[in-house]
Amino acid sequence: MGFAIKVLTPGVLFILTLAFGVWLSRSGKPYNGLIFNTHKLIALAAVVITAIQTFNALKIGERQPILIGLVIVIGLCAVALFVTGALMSAHKATGRATLTIHRIAPLLAVLAALGTLFLLDGRA
Ligand code: HEM
Repeated sequence: MGFAIKVLTPGVLFILTLAFGVWLSRSGKPYNGLIFNTHKLIALAAVVITAIQTFNALKIGERQPILIGLVIVIGLCAVALFVTGALMSAHKATGRATLTIHRIAPLLAVLAALGTLFLLDGRA
């Protein structure tokens, strides 16, 4: 598989996740079930595919500590998104902090992913 396809598939899934997330937010509460489940399932697909591509990329022998650090940041962002998403949907955390984390984690993940791609420099 070419490098472009490997980056494009998770990238497109990620953008779709963002789009459904914003749509979900704007459609108000109680959450629309169809939009919520689409947001959640696309997010899951994006995370699984990104994890597979990342592990394949690391297998080629890239072991720079900063690269491993960036991958850990992406993983922590994914965990934060799933935890805050679950809390919001279960109405367990209605405070602003949960939504704020759910908004900032995607930005942080994108920055870390760009850093990862830069360090891999087309070698994945
Ligand atoms: C890669 C993973 C994910 C990303 C990038 C993501 C991104 C987003 C974004 C950008 C929003 C819109 C925030 C706003 O503009 O107000 C949103 C909303 C939301 N997401 Fe996610 N999300 C992810 C995973 C999840 C998961 C797994 C769940 C559920 C278990 C979830 C539940 C929600 C809920 C309930 C909202 C609506 C929040 C509100 O009340 O405004 N998200 N998400």
